Amino acid sequence: MAKVKSKWVCQNCGYETASYLGKCPDCGRFSTFVEEIIQEKSEVKSKNSSMNIGSTETFSYTKINEVKVDTSIRITSGMEEFDRVLGGGFVEGSLCLLAGDPGIGKSTLILQTAKNIASQNKKILYICAEESTSQVKLRAERLNANSENIYVTQQNCLEEIIKQIENLKPEFLVVDSIQSVFSAQILSSTGSVSQIRECTNILMRIAKQFNVTTVIIGHVTKEGNIAGPKVLEHMVDCVLNFEGEKYKTTRILRGIKNRFGAVSEVGVFNMEDIGLVEIKNPSELFLSDRENLTTSGSTVIATLEGTRCLLLEVQALTGSTPYPNPRRVARGIEYDRLLQILAVLEKRVGLNLSKSDVYINVIGGIDIVEPAADLGVALAVLTSARDTVINKDTVCLGEIGLNGEIRSVDNLEARLKEAYKLGFIRAVVPKINNKTIKERILKIGIQIFEVSKISDAIKIAILN
Ligand SMILES: Nc1ncnc2c1ncn2[C@@H]1O[C@H](COP(=O)(O)OP(=O)(O)OP(=O)(O)O)[C@@H](O)[C@H]1O
Ligand SMILES: [Mg+2]
Ligand SMILES: [Zn+2]
Repeated sequence: MAKVKSKWVCQNCGYETASYLGKCPDCGRFSTFVEEIIQEKSEVKSKNSSMNIGSTETFSYTKINEVKVDTSIRITSGMEEFDRVLGGGFVEGSLCLLAGDPGIGKSTLILQTAKNIASQNKKILYICAEESTSQVKLRAERLNANSENIYVTQQNCLEEIIKQIENLKPEFLVVDSIQSVFSAQILSSTGSVSQIRECTNILMRIAKQFNVTTVIIGHVTKEGNIAGPKVLEHMVDCVLNFEGEKYKTTRILRGIKNRFGAVSEVGVFNMEDIGLVEIKNPSELFLSDRENLTTSGSTVIATLEGTRCLLLEVQALTGSTPYPNPRRVARGIEYDRLLQILAVLEKRVGLNLSKSDVYINVIGGIDIVEPAADLGVALAVLTSARDTVINKDTVCLGEIGLNGEIRSVDNLEARLKEAYKLGFIRAVVPKINNKTIKERILKIGIQIFEVSKISDAIKIAILN
C-alpha cells in the first residue's frame, strides 16, 4: 500500500501549506487553495528509477571548460517571426512552454510549426490531450498540415505518452495541453498544480534524455481550478506568451523567458482562415489608418520590443465626466504611468483634468511597458483636451520625469531610423548629449527637435 499524505496548494502560484488557508500568503489571492493527495516521495522515486530517470548511481565531474554544449543545433519553426522570438529556432532537446488565453490560437500556431518541421523530414508526435485526433485532423486540413511525418495520439496519461515517445522516437513533441495530462503516480486531480508541475518535470527530463524538442501548451487562467502556467515558468527552458485582443485578428508572440536567447522579442501574426500569417512589418499595419492622425488626441511613438522597433499610434480622449469620480482608462500603457503623466501635465503645464474622463488606447493591442512612450501619451492627452493636433508626420519620444523634464530613451537611433523609413520626417526627442550618437542621428534624414521640458515639447510639437 502506498503511503499517502495530503497538502493544500494554491492553484494560482503553487504555494503549499499543511492546512486550508482562505488567502494565499504568497500571491494574495482568495479561495485558491485545493487539497491535493500526494504519495510519499520515496514511492515516486522508486517507480521513476524503473524508467531510468533521476538515477544518481554514477557520479561524474567534468571541468567546465571541457563540457560540451551545443546550442547551435537549432530547429527552425519555418516562420521568421517565431524564430526571432526563440532566438533563431528551437534548441534541440529544449522544452518550451507556449501559454495563452483559451481560443487565442495556440494549437494553430503549433500545428503550423509542426507542419514546417515535418517538411524538414523530421518526425513529430502530437499529443492530443484535450481534443480528439479528428479535431486536430480537421485543423490540419484547414492549415494544409496533412503530413505523413506528423503522428497524432489521443492520450492523457504521462506514463503512456512516455512509452509512445520511446517507441516512436520523435524529434519534435507537442503536448496540447499540459493541464490535461496526468501522471498515474500523483493522486491529485488532472490540472492541479502538483500534477502539471510533476508532469512538466518528467517531460523536461524526457526531452533531455531522448533529445526531443518539446513544446507544451498551457492555458492562462486568472481564477478557477485549473492551475496557471505561472508555476511552470522557472522549470522550463523557454516561456512564450501568445497574446491578442478578443475581437481582433492580430496575435503577438512574446518571449518571456529564454535560456538560449534574448527575451522580450516579439513576433506578430494575423489570424486568417488559412491559419496564422506572419506580419513582417507590423508598424505598417498598426499605422495603416494614418489619416486619423489629423484628428486631435493622436500621436505616434516608436517603441522597442526586443531588437525590433515598432511604431504605434497612441490615442487619447478627454471629456467632461458625468461621474462623481472622473474615469481613467489605460489600454496599452500602465495605469499608474497614466496617472503620473496626468499629474505632471496638471502641475507643470496647468492642464486641469480633475473634472474630465481620460481614455488612452494604444492601437494594435501591444502593451507598452517602457517609459519612452510618456511624451507621446502626454501630447495625445493634451491635444485631445485642447482640441488641437500635432503634425501628422511627427514622432514623439521621451520619458517624462516628475519635474516635467524629458529624459533620454534607449536606442534612439534605431527608433528614428524606423520612423524615417515609415515616412515620418520630424521627431520630438530628448536632448542628445553624446556627440557621436548625435552625428549619426543627424545623418538619418529625419528632422529632430531636442526638448528638455514638457512645456518645450508642447510648443514645438503643436506649432510645427
Ligand atoms: N475556419 C476558421 N477560419 C478562421 N479562423 C478560425 C477558423 N477556425 C478557427 N479559427 C480561429 O482559430 C481560433 C482557435 O484556434 P486554436 O484552437 O488554435 O486556439 P487554442 O488557443 O488552441 O484554443 P484552446 O484554448 O481551445 O486550445 C479561433 O478562436 C478562431 O479565431
Ligand atoms: Mg488548443
Ligand atoms: Zn498563491
